[in-house]
Amino acid sequence: MDAAAFVEELDRAVKSRLADLGQAAAAGEPAPELGVAQLLSLALKKELEASEEAALWMTREDDVEVKLALARQCGDEAKHYRLVEARLRELGVDPSKLSPLAGGPTPMFQYLAGLGSTVERVAAGQFTREALAQVHNDVFIAYCEAKGDHGTARLYRETIQPDEAHHHELGRKLLLRLAVTEDAQARARAAAERTLAMAGEMAEMARLKKGIARAPGC
Ligand SMILES: [Fe+2]
Ligand SMILES: [Fe+2]
Repeated sequence: MDAAAFVEELDRAVKSRLADLGQAAAAGEPAPELGVAQLLSLALKKELEASEEAALWMTREDDVEVKLALARQCGDEAKHYRLVEARLRELGVDPSKLSPLAGGPTPMFQYLAGLGSTVERVAAGQFTREALAQVHNDVFIAYCEAKGDHGTARLYRETIQPDEAHHHELGRKLLLRLAVTEDAQARARAAAERTLAMAGEMAEMARLKKGIARAPGC
């Protein structure tokens, strides 16, 4: 199949699975002790890991377009980290008391960091995970609005979401150029599926163990 048809098919598959994940996230009520600020503080680790992954991949890349896309993403995710920190301060939380590195890297980070080819990284990290971040952020925005926190909702809607959408679109553009053989398409499809499966497992675990639902980020 040509790359355009492949990306269209992958898009449909990813969107349908994301709709399920979004519904599951929106259906769960966060534990009563988890307010907007507590859910927001969970985004720090995700933004840090997203930034670090982009940096790691950049050093292993020899496609200049992909290198530069990763460089932009690395900077954007670091900017998101700082924006989330600033909002936490406004909400009365001291971010220096938080330790986003505690617990070590997430299974998602470890999986993504180990991907061996450009087409897999682009399919998993940019195309799929950035779409996932947008779905989780939408659920979080609705939650913030429902709780009357319009400032946090605005930060996500106006600044963070457009960046995540841009990262996803970069993934789409690169896949159109990279997913041109049957082997590349099979690897891209498998990497996207594994990313979604892992996201589902991690969300389920967070809900069961800590009552975390509707948290922002990937
Ligand atoms: Fe981000
Ligand atoms: Fe992103």
